[in-house]
Amino acid sequence: MKLAVRTTTETDLPRLLELLDQIDDSMYPQRDDAGQASRLSVFRRIAADSNQHLLVAEADGRIVGTVHLIVVPHFSRTCKPSGLLESMVVDEAYRRKGVGAALLREVQRLALAAGCYKLALSSNLARRGAHRFYSRLGWKRTHYGFSLEPPIAR
Ligand SMILES: CC(C)(COP(=O)(O)OP(=O)(O)OC[C@H]1O[C@@H](n2cnc3c(N)ncnc32)[C@H](O)[C@@H]1OP(=O)(O)O)[C@@H](O)C(=O)NCCC(=O)NCCS
Repeated sequence: MKLAVRTTTETDLPRLLELLDQIDDSMYPQRDDAGQASRLSVFRRIAADSNQHLLVAEADGRIVGTVHLIVVPHFSRTCKPSGLLESMVVDEAYRRKGVGAALLREVQRLALAAGCYKLALSSNLARRGAHRFYSRLGWKRTHYGFSLEPPIAR
């Protein structure tokens, strides 16, 4: 399998959305679905932001995985940014073939190039396979994650 990781382009959007639909969100029944127009607008905002890297992995010319790196500027440490990961998914038919690991290698390279002092992500407690995946690649469970689900205002 010939594997390549690159930045997502607007023409990739339909396939990207198919992939993102493979993330099981059934643990969040209260979340609404967005329309295609909003998704295109979100894509354009991400693509225009030099602190965001929306990546896709291609295997034999087909997009089979994605991850989104957000470089967050802040004041802690020596004012170095941190890197936040979102929306990591690999096509069901291509899992356990090294695609996820290749995406994370590129994330780590980009985060280093951006001067990040750490990378972080949160993963729902139910995603046990994903937890094994991150642990296997050297990621440590160092924090508790907290979230406020809709309605956020109480
Ligand atoms: C988690 C995910 C991105 C991993 O991608 P992948 O391409 O399958 O991962 P890799 O092939 O690079 O796996 C590397 C190693 O991680 C571990 N691993 C990956 N998926 C695993 C799983 N479901 N169960 C147990 N270990 C797993 C294995 O040790 C694997 O090496 P091995 O296959 O030689 O044993 C993919 O399973 C996925 O898309 N899951 C659904 C969406 C999701 O949960 N995303 C994460 C949100 S936080």
